Amino acid sequence: MKLKTTVSALCAAVLAVTCCASSAYAAKVGVSMPTQSLQRWNQDGQNMKAMLEQSGHTVDLQYAGDNDIPTQVNQIENMIASGCDILVVASIDGSALTEVLKGAKEKNIPVVSYDRLIMNSDAVSYYATFDNTRVGNLQGQYIADQLDLENAKETKYIEIFTGPTDDNNVNFFFGGAMEVLKPYIDSGKLVVKSGQTTREQCATLNWNLEEAQKRMENLISSISYGPEDVQLDAVLTQNDALACGVVNALLATGYDASNMPVITGQDCDKPAVKNIVRGYQDMSVFKDTRMLAQQVVAMVDSIDKGEKVEVNDTTTYNNGTGVIPSYLCEPIAATKDNYQALLIDSGYYKADEI
Ligand code: BGC
Repeated sequence: MKLKTTVSALCAAVLAVTCCASSAYAAKVGVSMPTQSLQRWNQDGQNMKAMLEQSGHTVDLQYAGDNDIPTQVNQIENMIASGCDILVVASIDGSALTEVLKGAKEKNIPVVSYDRLIMNSDAVSYYATFDNTRVGNLQGQYIADQLDLENAKETKYIEIFTGPTDDNNVNFFFGGAMEVLKPYIDSGKLVVKSGQTTREQCATLNWNLEEAQKRMENLISSISYGPEDVQLDAVLTQNDALACGVVNALLATGYDASNMPVITGQDCDKPAVKNIVRGYQDMSVFKDTRMLAQQVVAMVDSIDKGEKVEVNDTTTYNNGTGVIPSYLCEPIAATKDNYQALLIDSGYYKADEI
């Protein structure tokens, strides 16, 4: 029932944007995205462009190669020089834009931080994202529930894969998951055999699938994880790219759908959803990029009109220069049981894409 309501609310929100957009706005908006190599950022970029144009704005959409920081800096520099009125930026390295954004501040160009918080810059006016702590909570809670950590008598074994240390979201995903799992790790009920538990030790450069696969292969050979060998009950992976890398390594070691450890993810990328259907990955976190784009377009519209910008969090996200007023969208856990309603019935994917 709750899921139905959420899905209908999603559809209604998306419809409202698609059907009722006016052409009353006329800002030139620079949209800087980190990469096209991950499905979600392509969707984010396309959604933003389409919705902003529908609102009457003109859009300069740029992808920074494959997570190339100097390219992103150059592209933002050009957006500022070419007369963009508002910038929307999903940063690669949250701390690498301090210098270039001084130019935006000098020209009074408002900057909206998209999905990831831009750190150490007082040019950032607003932040729109998903509730990143909640994303981690959902992943941690899923593992706790599936392993029945509350009641289990025997020890359970887990490994942890996080995103890169330069993505501020990682801290929140990690914090959220650890709110749930750390008590069990501290009590010895949940054991990380590799001993790799810090964000640095668990980090994956650029959220790269192959990097995650390599690290999982290394853990398999150093610890002898295997269906007939050393027990591995769960892998906390922070997004779907990492989950796919981990699944590849585990499949190659002889695991299959019947004995795969519990594996989490995030984004509901198509390959991951296929893996969920096949029983290789257990859950992902659905972050409806249409909702985020809708929220950012509303922010841009309000900024353009000089109206009050809608935010729902004014305490959580401090970027080193102060708390950035934020709008947090709600993430939803996606599993084999609800993906049909969440992803297909809501129109996010066509059935034949999965
Ligand atoms: C985003 C995730 C995404 C990851 C890799 C994070 O900052 O919040 O949705 O999976 O970056 O691109």
